[in-house]
Amino acid sequence: MRFRGNSMNETKTAIPGKHASALGDEIVGRINQLGTISETPEHLARVFLSPEHKVAADLILSWMVEAGMRAHLDAIGNICGRYEGERPGLPCLMLGSHYDTVRDAGKWDGPLGLITAISCVADLNRRGRRLPFALEVVGFADEEGVRFASTLLGSRAIAGTFVESALNSRDRDGVAMREAMVQFGLDPDHVGAAARARRELHAYVELHIEQGPVLEQKGLPVGVVTAIAGATRLAAHLTGMAGHAGTVPMAMRRDALAGAAECITKIEELCQTDGGGLVGTVGYIDAMPGATNVIPGRVNFTLDIRAPTDPHRKRAVADIVRHIEAIAKRRTLALQVDVTHENRTVPCALWLKAQVAEAVAAEGFSVFELPSGAGHDGMAMIDIADVAMLFVRCRGGISHHPDEHVELADADAGAQVLLRLIENFRPRE
Ligand code: GLV
Ligand code: MN
Ligand code: MN
Repeated sequence: MRFRGNSMNETKTAIPGKHASALGDEIVGRINQLGTISETPEHLARVFLSPEHKVAADLILSWMVEAGMRAHLDAIGNICGRYEGERPGLPCLMLGSHYDTVRDAGKWDGPLGLITAISCVADLNRRGRRLPFALEVVGFADEEGVRFASTLLGSRAIAGTFVESALNSRDRDGVAMREAMVQFGLDPDHVGAAARARRELHAYVELHIEQGPVLEQKGLPVGVVTAIAGATRLAAHLTGMAGHAGTVPMAMRRDALAGAAECITKIEELCQTDGGGLVGTVGYIDAMPGATNVIPGRVNFTLDIRAPTDPHRKRAVADIVRHIEAIAKRRTLALQVDVTHENRTVPCALWLKAQVAEAVAAEGFSVFELPSGAGHDGMAMIDIADVAMLFVRCRGGISHHPDEHVELADADAGAQVLLRLIENFRPRE
């Protein structure tokens, strides 16, 4: 694990004429601090159960304690903080986001929502303000699903939907999740202890960067999310025949990588010609045995497919699989396709979304609603609580990229809206 350099000049980005409050300053300072905790100094990467994931967890725990919360690491590595209400033991409004990252990530995806929630609690605590409900803040351990094939592992554990067989999945280096948990200091046989009951939660609300360009185009710092789009992730395995690059005639080859290349361009073509918002991404490919002078005999690649509606996504997945099966057959390659992740579209609860909109309006911003194309922990939390989300504008809509950026004034606007929402929150009748 290495600490990355920190460009502190990024904290001086307030919109001229608008003075961000201390909340925005604290949030951006902590985003920069957390952004230094990485697998390598050059590229931010903090994947589930890695040494840097643990360093980050310890730092976030200390922030929660400083904010006046009781905090602990749960059985899957979620960081859980609790700020009691007017009396101990009340059901909570749960807030949070994830603290794992993709590879070569930006600093804001996940940490903005988590750090903002902690700063809001700290603000209440400084004022000695207790509410007629408890507040809980969760730093979800794995939302991105980068290390192991599955995703939303932290929020699924809290929702009680963690699938035990996931413990046997292995990362690219062959390390099983079960072993990684032990190295992190967790007991893989007790993941079930992280589960929470529906009666303990009034609702789950997450603030997150938009990760798209819409709010910037609209000239708005924040937006109210209507629904989180579903997603399907597949792992495809193609097997042909490895052989000598100099001796096997082209017509006699069963090249798994050339087959994968044809599959990938077909997937791109199917998505490009769909016309209805279908998006498909092959984000990882591995060719074996992996030598310049050897015909690739085996290839694994991943596929992420999303669409505006679940029936649309399901039709598209079936269509794509049919096409890659046909390509494999024509090239006499063996094909295996596994579904590694599937999540339905999750609508934000109308009653809760209305309270988010109220808070946005009360802070003086136009209320604008938009769907989330990206996945979020709310997709798992929906199994135990109603869910709502607040988006914060990010520069150029760039995300899952080191250039991901949020202006200080926008981070502050998000915090002010979240704080107002918390202070005016009314549980569903
Ligand atoms: C999470 O960032 C996802 O949408 O893949
Ligand atoms: Mn992400
Ligand atoms: Mn995220």
